[in-house]
Amino acid sequence: MTRETPPAVMELIGVQKSYAGNPPVEALRGIDLTINEGELIGLVGTSGSGKSTMLNIMGALDHPTEGKVRIQGQDLSALSDRQLSSLRGKRIGFIFQQFHLIAGLSLVENVATGVLYQGASRSQRIKNGIRLLTKVGLGNRLDHLPHQLSGGEQQRVAVARALMGEPAIILADEPTGNLDSKTSEEIVKLLHQLNKDGSTIIVVTHDRELASSFPGMVTLRDGLVESDSRAQ
Ligand SMILES: Nc1ncnc2c1ncn2[C@@H]1O[C@H](COP(=O)(O)OP(=O)(O)O)[C@@H](O)[C@H]1O
Ligand SMILES: [Mg+2]
Repeated sequence: MTRETPPAVMELIGVQKSYAGNPPVEALRGIDLTINEGELIGLVGTSGSGKSTMLNIMGALDHPTEGKVRIQGQDLSALSDRQLSSLRGKRIGFIFQQFHLIAGLSLVENVATGVLYQGASRSQRIKNGIRLLTKVGLGNRLDHLPHQLSGGEQQRVAVARALMGEPAIILADEPTGNLDSKTSEEIVKLLHQLNKDGSTIIVVTHDRELASSFPGMVTLRDGLVESDSRAQ
């Protein structure tokens, strides 16, 4: 029996990014990368190697200067700003180093309303928010405010928020960068669990040890892919 290759969730084809200046900064110099459904990949590289630039381009937060980005086969250059913003809301989950929760909102409101996608009804989103907070172990804290939580717990809320709307891919930029080592381990365990449950996840980190705990590791250097552990 032949197994079909899983569909590509994200494709970068010849992606270059330069930032204007004198001289301009060539942050990405020609990236070809395919992320398939169900992968969990660490993206590593020294500071300035282009990790955040690449994540922003993958998340449709920024445009490449040259090259193409496809998400589930959809070429992003063909989309208007409005369509891009809708795509970000529906198909991409973001997790940031600084959590970025809204201070005055309860946890369930943060998860349920902290998405751009407004397609589902409010009651449906609240219901999903409760389900997701329960999944990340905070089902008993629904009405708490972010400041009542530890850093690790706040990051769990951000993880739950990233899962709203069942995104095609989750992009995390240094998700453990603000956490102590024990709490980091818990968040990493949670990412592994989500991946086992089917989520496709990219984690930017400068921590090679953390990245090597993931099934795949891609290393950037000077705006190019230096190595890809998945390569044959
Ligand atoms: N908005 C910007 N304007 C100009 N240069 C930038 C900008 N953002 C990043 N850079 C430069 O692009 C390169 C890659 O940066 P970045 O993607 O942030 O790397 P990393 O996340 O790996 O540290 C660096 O040389 C950085 O100084
Ligand atoms: Mg960075």
